[in-house]
Amino acid sequence: MKESKFEFEYEVYNDISELSEADAWLLTEARTVTENAYAPYSNFFVGAVAILENGEVVAGTNQENASYPVGICAERVLLGTIATIHPKIPVKSIAISYSSEVVKSDHPISPCGMCRQALLEYETRTEKPIRLILSGQEGQVYIIKTASFLLPFAFTSSELI
Ligand code: THU
Repeated sequence: MKESKFEFEYEVYNDISELSEADAWLLTEARTVTENAYAPYSNFFVGAVAILENGEVVAGTNQENASYPVGICAERVLLGTIATIHPKIPVKSIAISYSSEVVKSDHPISPCGMCRQALLEYETRTEKPIRLILSGQEGQVYIIKTASFLLPFAFTSSELI
């Protein structure tokens, strides 16, 4: 028997003022675009904004539905949009933020399990890591080098061929 462990490093900033100008800009876009989320059921408005390798910027927000499981997270709206508008262009970074009338938006959230799987697939198909910038409307910011860090023991296409 051998013990094994998985760990990863990520950056923690006290607030947006400690970020580079480019990262601060992207995070501000994510904070702002939460206004376009459609979340009348959860009142949890998520914004995800990507900057691609060619400098293009694409945004996504969560879109809910009266039939709850039909709703889709901001991250997957974003990835589908990027793949449709700019297929084959890798994603450099994605900033993710949220706002709510119910809870305080003062700490980072990280993508749900389904979105982690979708992010990993996107990294695989473009053969480039996606950097994540996570923060609420205020407070700490986490930067994670690659979305794959969030999904250890992932099931990937390599199992199918
Ligand atoms: N949601 C996202 O859009 N992204 C996440 O990373 C977590 C959750 C959405 C789904 C649902 O519309 C609402 O937030 C509450 O779960």
